[in-house]
Amino acid sequence: MHELLKSASQSRRRFIAASLAALGNGIAVAAPVFGRAEETASLRKLAAEKGLLYGTTISAAQIIGDKPFVDLVLQQAGVVVAENDMKWQDMNRGVRGDDNYGLADTVAAFAYENGLALRGHNLLWYHRTPGWFFDLSSRREIEDAIVERIQALAGRYRGMVHSWDVVNEPIEPKDGRPDGLRTAVFLDMFGPEYLDLAYRTARETDPGARLVVNEYDVELDTPEQEVRRTALLNLLERMQRCGVPVDAVGIQAHLSCAGGPPFSAARLRRFLAEVAGLGLAIQITELDVTDENAPADTTVRDRLVADTYARFLDAALDEPAVKMVVTWGLSDRHSWIVRKETHQSKWRADGLPSRPLPFDTDLKPKPAFEAIAQCFAHAPRRAAG
Ligand code: XIL
Repeated sequence: MHELLKSASQSRRRFIAASLAALGNGIAVAAPVFGRAEETASLRKLAAEKGLLYGTTISAAQIIGDKPFVDLVLQQAGVVVAENDMKWQDMNRGVRGDDNYGLADTVAAFAYENGLALRGHNLLWYHRTPGWFFDLSSRREIEDAIVERIQALAGRYRGMVHSWDVVNEPIEPKDGRPDGLRTAVFLDMFGPEYLDLAYRTARETDPGARLVVNEYDVELDTPEQEVRRTALLNLLERMQRCGVPVDAVGIQAHLSCAGGPPFSAARLRRFLAEVAGLGLAIQITELDVTDENAPADTTVRDRLVADTYARFLDAALDEPAVKMVVTWGLSDRHSWIVRKETHQSKWRADGLPSRPLPFDTDLKPKPAFEAIAQCFAHAPRRAAG
């Protein structure tokens, strides 16, 4: 048995204590519940019938402090991903090598104890790189720090992780490089070979995990996103040519139901077919629908959000290489689109709370839930992957 799992089952209290310490003082929390999910009708079950894994983000704080939400996750999800608890900057205490694994361990143990698949998010992301990394100067130091990060995190959960987002968001057309790669942090400091280093190290560290390139906006019908799609395909082809291990493409799919850039089902279908043509699996990794510019009326808004889920999934699920759908949250209670402290919308000008996810803040299913369920029910069956 894996060391972490042994210690997880032998002394769960240590995990909880570590999580509480990491959460800081003064937060009243209940004991976590690690019950087995009932096999009731659920998105997990509908998806599984088609060879799909469905799941959601979760956090250690939710596992510890929100039992009703946890129960809903156990009913609905077959895979979970830490929304923030495995991100480097979130784990790091400001000093190289000093990372706090308490919250990440809580999420990993939750997945293990409940028989859920675990997505690892993420090993490297320019946006959540600790400050000290930017002070490294020698090539050797930078390489060592990247390798240390990957070996430490992917090594700790070796054998437990279904898929790792090894590099999150490696493409940025605005950076102006002919290859479309994002320059921020890793490329600037090390060169484009950081990608090869990261994926090779991840494969060596946890050979059983699927290695994913996770990217956003590839479903949008704009010239900029056409450049992003091309750059991503070129990157994948180059990795394959050079023997750099990659198994899947992650499509974040943060969608907008009104006033956003146009979504094109035709473009998405074509892009998915091109990815599948490379022999890669596809995962929808962060699906949600902002209602930022939708009318205030809740019924109208919920319908627009639901229709957006339906249009996207209808196109995506026709592609048999799509093996997984993860929504970036399950209930509007916990969404990055909804400001947690005030429950005011982050982006709506009228200040109304956003309603981006399948369940409302009372954990009641919304039209978005029905839309996703219908899409799963009508999706062609595929080989699981
Ligand atoms: C977001 C989280 O949801 C927020 O809580 C956090 O403040 C910022 O990051 N793309 C990603 C995710 O890959 O990690 C991001 O998650 C959303 C965009």
